[in-house]
Amino acid sequence: MNKEQIIENTIEFVKNELEGEGSGHDWWHIYRVTEVTKKIAQDENADLFLCTMAALLHDIADEKLNESEEVGMQRVKGWLESQEVDKGELEIIMEIISTISFKGGNGPTLTRLEAKVVQDADRLDAIGAIGIARCFIYSGSKGRQMYDPNDVPRETMTKEEYRSNKGAAINHFYEKLLKLKDLMNTETGKSMAQERHDYMIRFLEQFFEEWDGRK
Ligand code: ADP
Ligand code: NI
Repeated sequence: MNKEQIIENTIEFVKNELEGEGSGHDWWHIYRVTEVTKKIAQDENADLFLCTMAALLHDIADEKLNESEEVGMQRVKGWLESQEVDKGELEIIMEIISTISFKGGNGPTLTRLEAKVVQDADRLDAIGAIGIARCFIYSGSKGRQMYDPNDVPRETMTKEEYRSNKGAAINHFYEKLLKLKDLMNTETGKSMAQERHDYMIRFLEQFFEEWDGRK
């Protein structure tokens, strides 16, 4: 099978798998991450096939969708084998997917350019206008407020308290979203993140001005 055909089949596979997915990892998240991945990959001279495949499949193995991450990775492997992806490339795609997820910033340092590209694209989808929208929709789905001026800063709460308790949407900006710009791997990712970051800062300024009736 040629690579274009494999990519087309994979798009259909992922669309089917993520249908009705409600945790913010729906097909359109994958679509956006894949489009940004292609842009960064071209600018950074990374392998377009490996990057595109990893972007398309990056959430399929997520533990939220599977019994465990291992079971999820087996599904990815099964899919790649069914598409007769070259064994060496299959291993690289698997490696990229298993190393990119952001686990509180404690993930392994990435060495492969293609992994850096896909991780940048995934993080970019959490910031900027899209990131703002995702943050509020996530909070709303958990029944949380958009902002509580008395909200306890995340740092002083346990993870469980935070999850079950407060954690207004605005808190998540300080907890995570405003930190992502400094975690970018590639030059292209950094400059895209800077623009999206500045947009979030302007949003927050306006938000607080409006909150206090100053604008
Ligand atoms: P990923 O694995 O892509 O980093 P997450 O599952 O952490 O994604 O989050 C999916 C989306 O929901 C992201 O846009 C993220 O910013 C948002 N989100 C996650 N946790 C929170 C939270 N506590 N409050 C508001 N938004 C959140
Ligand atoms: Ni993702």
